[in-house]
Amino acid sequence: MADDRSETDRHLMQWLRDAHAMERQAETMLTGMESRIEHYPHLRKRIAQHLKETQHQSQRLEEAIGRRGGSASAVKDTVASLTTMAQGLLGSMAGDEVVKGLLAGYTFEHYEIGSYRILIAAAAALGDIETTRILRENLREEEDMAQWLSSNIDPLTAEYLERQDQGSARAKR
Ligand SMILES: [Fe+2]
Repeated sequence: MADDRSETDRHLMQWLRDAHAMERQAETMLTGMESRIEHYPHLRKRIAQHLKETQHQSQRLEEAIGRRGGSASAVKDTVASLTTMAQGLLGSMAGDEVVKGLLAGYTFEHYEIGSYRILIAAAAALGDIETTRILRENLREEEDMAQWLSSNIDPLTAEYLERQDQGSARAKR
């Protein structure tokens, strides 16, 4: 039905903009983490890689928004950005900053995965093949990052705890 289609169009545009705001927020969070982490080079390196991926993801979303006749500059930040900012602040002041960062990162990646799965379903419903393709690229990078964090949360937490036990100044970040 024509009406259903225009509603889906409207939703897809709004969700693309939400995803764009989400990636800008991710960029802020990852930039902060990359610059603050000193003593966990393995984690820092993976964050630097995902920061680059995140910047590309924003560009892909801007292109998709433009191709569908919208403007990415009309993007408004969401409530989620405040939550993330609060998490970042909490993390940087806490003695267990690296652990708070892992938790924030793990949570955020799964939020992103959910967002892209919803977007892919909407783009596919409209038969927008190119938008579906770029959304799948973004989704795969989020899944890879989530998987990396999933594999590294245990050893990194153990490393943090061991350093804490030894009274090492290298524990915090
Ligand atoms: Fe991500």
